[in-house]
Amino acid sequence: MAKTANTELTEVSEAQIAVHWKEEAYYQPSEKFKAQANMRDPHILEKFGLDKFPDCFREYADMLTWFEPYRTVLDTSDAPFWKWFVGGKINASYNCVDRHLAKHADKAAFIFVPEPEDQPHLAITYQELYTRVNELAALLSGLGLKAGDRVTFHMPMVPELPITMLACARLGIIHSQVFGGFSGQACGSRIHDSGSRVLVTMDGYWRNGSLIDHKANADIAVRAAKDLGQAVDKVLVWQRYPGTYSAKTPMVPGRDFFMNDLLKEYTGRTVEPVALPSEGPLFLMYSSGTTGKPKGAQHSIAGYLSYVTATSKWILDIHPEDVYWCMADIGWITGHSYIVYGPLAIAATSVLYEGVPTFPDAGRPWRIAERLGVNIFHTAPTAIRMLRKLGPQEPRKYKYRFKSMTTVGEPIEPEAWRWYYDEVGKREAVITDTWWLTETGGFLGVTVPAIHPMKPGSCGPGAPGIHPVIYDETGAEVPKGSGKAGNICIRNPWPGIMQTIWGDRDRYVKTYFSKYNRNPRSKDWRDWPFMCGDGAVQAADGYYRILGRIDDVINVAGHRLGTKEIESACLTVPEVAEAAVVPVADEVKGRVPEVYIAIKPGVQPSQDVIDRVIRAIEEVIGKIARPKHVYIVPDMPKTRSGKIMRRVLASISNRRDVGDVTTLANPDVVEQIRALVQGKDAIATKEELPEDIAQFGQAE
Ligand code: WTA
Repeated sequence: MAKTANTELTEVSEAQIAVHWKEEAYYQPSEKFKAQANMRDPHILEKFGLDKFPDCFREYADMLTWFEPYRTVLDTSDAPFWKWFVGGKINASYNCVDRHLAKHADKAAFIFVPEPEDQPHLAITYQELYTRVNELAALLSGLGLKAGDRVTFHMPMVPELPITMLACARLGIIHSQVFGGFSGQACGSRIHDSGSRVLVTMDGYWRNGSLIDHKANADIAVRAAKDLGQAVDKVLVWQRYPGTYSAKTPMVPGRDFFMNDLLKEYTGRTVEPVALPSEGPLFLMYSSGTTGKPKGAQHSIAGYLSYVTATSKWILDIHPEDVYWCMADIGWITGHSYIVYGPLAIAATSVLYEGVPTFPDAGRPWRIAERLGVNIFHTAPTAIRMLRKLGPQEPRKYKYRFKSMTTVGEPIEPEAWRWYYDEVGKREAVITDTWWLTETGGFLGVTVPAIHPMKPGSCGPGAPGIHPVIYDETGAEVPKGSGKAGNICIRNPWPGIMQTIWGDRDRYVKTYFSKYNRNPRSKDWRDWPFMCGDGAVQAADGYYRILGRIDDVINVAGHRLGTKEIESACLTVPEVAEAAVVPVADEVKGRVPEVYIAIKPGVQPSQDVIDRVIRAIEEVIGKIARPKHVYIVPDMPKTRSGKIMRRVLASISNRRDVGDVTTLANPDVVEQIRALVQGKDAIATKEELPEDIAQFGQAE
């Protein structure tokens, strides 16, 4: 298929090379776990077979309470913009809060754990959640906000974040939470893209022992949005300690308001949840891709909510009496789906922890688990690797007992998996390795925990009703057990799939469908496999192993960062002529970015330039994107047509042999760069690169 300049099509011919991998042994769920599980039907995958599609998903819709029933399960008339449960009227806030009051009013919806260990945790019951969501919805409505308006949040991990989400959902306001660790500028560009006139933030929050002045970011965000052409009229500021201002940055009169002050007028007010169409948008979640511009994944109310509800019940196996703790940040999709919407829809008690897992030491998570009686634990491989490194025996010191555990966001090495199983899970807890994306709303590849055995390093088969397929470059299916990798796609739509990229229908079609679409005019879903953007290999037993992104996105500690975004941040430093960012393998974070820059003629290389490049990255994106190294190079390795060979740089950064570079325009520079990075005498290893790094730079 022809490539056009600004598409995100990928060429991954190397993905088809054989992937050598020792098959891991299975682990079985315990009889005790199986006996209590929500989903015990051994035929569940057949019940959600393609021959039953799409009607099988009625069962998901039935888990929700509807104001008006839907008429059509799946409407494909505007393919590939799928519409689920069309004709129905529903409200997400009602489903997550109101409908639980009859049975669970006094049960904790959230238990908030502040980072400072001497500050008490705070339980918020469903009744209290109802009161707070209603008062806030009344306030938002009083400000003139209504269904379809967008509001951007830049909030930390505090209960006010889900409360604000649910207040928006009650009115049909589309929320767009930007991860709290992103910079003010990154927030500003997302405000602009979504067209938000209101920003919700918090004065400060605890992170690694300090109370951070977060309000400062709001001022930067508003300015950045304005420069791009989007005015923000109001900044609504939650106070970390109500009644006290925890930031030093002044409030701007007429623009900035303390939420707690405004709320005084709305005490005791209730707002009827608006009966919204099923396919109304619930929220936007920005994510990185091949280009420098983040894309706003738009998720629907009914399809999304039904999907996260069913998977929270069947895969996370949450029962109302469980205490569930997902350590992800609500600022990412995992938090939206599996801290807020999914668990609340099934009346879970969910722990919300403000801070860093290793603060003040690597025993913290296990103390929280012991004290609060957590029995379902959900985290990412980066946290597992970090906790293992800093406190391999810490879990033994605490008396918590997990029945099930989850991992999400990155591939997990079998070794880290086994520590998680043996030490954290104490050989009792099942592990579900959940593979999915911002765009997919919920799990794609996963074991149903009481039914499928676990296999370290593999996520498992497709989730119920998800039918993955691996295609090679020509669109031929890569058979299971072949040991060959390719592009993993999903054959069919499912209720949790994003609706579109906010404001960019073309990019949605190009990014996810154009490579394997069989007929652009087709209204038949069979012609529109969804391309996930990951390389994968399927073992003979049907289990998938995910190899990582193929679109120049680096997965840093489970956070998706676009290398083009980092490169354009580097170019804001005037001395920088060219920048190239590559992934380097890291023991704890999985992958981290390394930066190569060429400076303009006449400028002397200096530490000062390097420092300013790092600062620029932190300002434009955030500290999470901070590079491991910045190298100033005499020139970039280039093809004769002038393209930077990022793959050569990736090999150098990862201490690998660069291979044959004689066809480059400037092969000599490669040795100079190699010596700079690896040292004059360093001998690069011949070992193969991890698949995602080996493929790096091919998506251009
Ligand atoms: C990666 C996070 C291996 C993958 C929910 C995907 C994983 C990207 C797994 C999406 C897993 C996620 N095993 N890799 N269990 N889960 N990934 O959008 O590369 O932040 O494409 O969504 O994370 O990241 P995102």
